[in-house]
Amino acid sequence: MAQFWKPGTEKPRLLEDEDGGVIFLSSSYSSSSSGYGYVSIEKQRQRLPVYKYRTAILYLVESHATTIVVGETGSGKTTQIPQFLKEAGWADGGRVIACTQPRRLAVQAVASRVAEEMGVKLGEEVGYTIRFEDISNPDLTRIKFLTDGVLLREMMDDPLLTKYSVIMVDEAHERSISTDIVLGLLKKIQKRRPELRLIISSATIEAKSMSNFFLSSKRHQALEGEELRPRLEPAILSVEGRGFNVQIHYVEDPVRDYVQAAVSTVLLINDKEPPGDILVFLTGQDDIDAAIKLLTEEARSNGKNSSGLIILPLYSGLTRAEQDLIFSPTPKGKRKVVISTNIAETSLTLEGIVYVVDSGFSKQRFYNPISDIENLVVAPISKASARQRAGRAGRLRPGKCYRLYTEEFFLNEMSVQGIPEIQRSNLVSCVIQLKALGIDNILGFDWPASPSPESMIRALEVLYSLGVLDDDAKLTSPVGFQVAEIPLEPLIAKMILSSNELGCSDEMITIAAVLSIQSIWFSARGAQKELDEAKLRFAAAEGDHVTFLNIYKGFLQSGKSSKWCHKNFINYHAMKKVIEIREQLKRIALRLGIVLKSCETDMQLVRKAVTAGFFANACRLEAYSHGGMYKTIRGSQEVYIHPSSVLFRVNPKCVIYHSLVSTDRQYMRNVISIDPSWLTEVAPHFYQQQRHNPTIH
Ligand code: CDP
Ligand code: MG
Repeated sequence: MAQFWKPGTEKPRLLEDEDGGVIFLSSSYSSSSSGYGYVSIEKQRQRLPVYKYRTAILYLVESHATTIVVGETGSGKTTQIPQFLKEAGWADGGRVIACTQPRRLAVQAVASRVAEEMGVKLGEEVGYTIRFEDISNPDLTRIKFLTDGVLLREMMDDPLLTKYSVIMVDEAHERSISTDIVLGLLKKIQKRRPELRLIISSATIEAKSMSNFFLSSKRHQALEGEELRPRLEPAILSVEGRGFNVQIHYVEDPVRDYVQAAVSTVLLINDKEPPGDILVFLTGQDDIDAAIKLLTEEARSNGKNSSGLIILPLYSGLTRAEQDLIFSPTPKGKRKVVISTNIAETSLTLEGIVYVVDSGFSKQRFYNPISDIENLVVAPISKASARQRAGRAGRLRPGKCYRLYTEEFFLNEMSVQGIPEIQRSNLVSCVIQLKALGIDNILGFDWPASPSPESMIRALEVLYSLGVLDDDAKLTSPVGFQVAEIPLEPLIAKMILSSNELGCSDEMITIAAVLSIQSIWFSARGAQKELDEAKLRFAAAEGDHVTFLNIYKGFLQSGKSSKWCHKNFINYHAMKKVIEIREQLKRIALRLGIVLKSCETDMQLVRKAVTAGFFANACRLEAYSHGGMYKTIRGSQEVYIHPSSVLFRVNPKCVIYHSLVSTDRQYMRNVISIDPSWLTEVAPHFYQQQRHNPTIH
């Protein structure tokens, strides 16, 4: 163990105090932890901090249009408040209580927990909807969990969301792009539906600024005197649950490889510390899989000291069975090690965690409107996130948090709060959704945090070039409306529509299905050679998209065999998901009048269809240095083919990428070779000198 830990001077404060206007009640967690797993569910419910606020919450929701609930993670906001509302009659008369989450996995997990607590079958009284998965019943479901993205989609059919009596926008502090859009739209809806109640809830939030957002409307104040209406000034309720103290430890010197450092730290804890589960925060599926592999190997070679470890991953896309393992109590004599993305930071509470290992990083989206480049970057988390992560160790009893960064780094390099996603994202999807909802004045939309005008203009320009918006920046018919209707990134949607004209829609929905999941490859740290060999078996000279088609074909020919996947380093669950999503896309395509047609072996058509959607991501080979340096044709940004691509070191002259990730350089993931002459063919306005600017409203 090469690290030297030094204790931190900071005591994690789990909840910032609020001043004026806050109803501040206090309670603490029950310290009786030994009963976990053995007490009745009803008892467990009563022990949660929000239980004591039941009456206060119901009173505030009754009397206020908007209630802001701030409460420490695990205090019971997500699982209990919808049940309180239901018990109080908010779901009577066929009405539905909605609770949104930014993350799909959180939606599934809390819905199944609430169904269990209520003793009902999931999908009936309690249901959930996430993209490509609807486990709800329009006649039976009274409490519905959904992603904020799905709620946005529902507005397309029902702009005033009339079936909902209360909408709880949960995890608002995350400030995901969809949460912000939803908040802006709900504020509008509220004016038209005074009976609608909103609950904004989160672990930490600047409650005051959120409250100001819902207040800042002259119309609101004008209505205040009216008798039958609820009070329009939002109520703020702070549910205080005191976690136990968490000792913070920092590394003395910066670590070079946080995956390796995390693994060593877990083994050290297992060796030296008393029982208690460990939660490790890494950034994504790739480094989590890598850490699990390393940990399993090192634990094995360490001998019997590590035999009691149950090592589990936690990221979106886990199967039901894998999720269940995460939440089930740790058997006696064993120690659970959950290796997670920041989903376990506030979205999900795991019981039994006493030790947290925090890499200090997460995957974040960054967009530069000048170069028109959006990147997924592994970047330092904020101080607020670091405190949340540490807090996860203090739920059961006093815990310890091992930060894999120095105290200086925490103090000087980490920002106080994160930046809302809307201010660091490409806005193409956001603009098209607002347009589809009839919001024409996008720059004037009431945002909780305004996106930059440059990003907005870029998005309008791309949408105009895609043929989705017309000269007046209105959705075109039918293309604009069709693209808006397909629940995928607009560029993928356009790719599917173009494939219909080109005669390769059958291939394109397979590609779209693969692109909408994280990765179909099994991450293979330490087995890179074997993985590369497996890839070669499917590699297509045209690029990754065509390679996906080969893999899909192979999977079908194997009879959808898990053995076949294992042998070829392909993730079996991911492939099953691909089949599922593909089926749904097929249905959506049929609804839009797209008849599935295969181009058989003519891959030029597939490449052209990809170009029709992703022309903005075209790059030209500039030099053979560093394994092939490319520049984006529009913005002259330096980019490289990611080593995971089948075109790595192949270096075709002109390529299109699906997304960029940034580490030491900007890497293109999922790359296909194209003929540059197609660019002016499919997007003349985008690639000609005389660029046409659409009218911007
Ligand atoms: O939303 P908040 O973070 O305030 O808490 P919650 O998600 O409602 O969790 C309340 C309790 O339910 C915690 O003790 C969780 O461990 C438990 N829970 C669970 O056991 N299984 C789930 N799938 C979700 C929550
Ligand atoms: Mg919650």
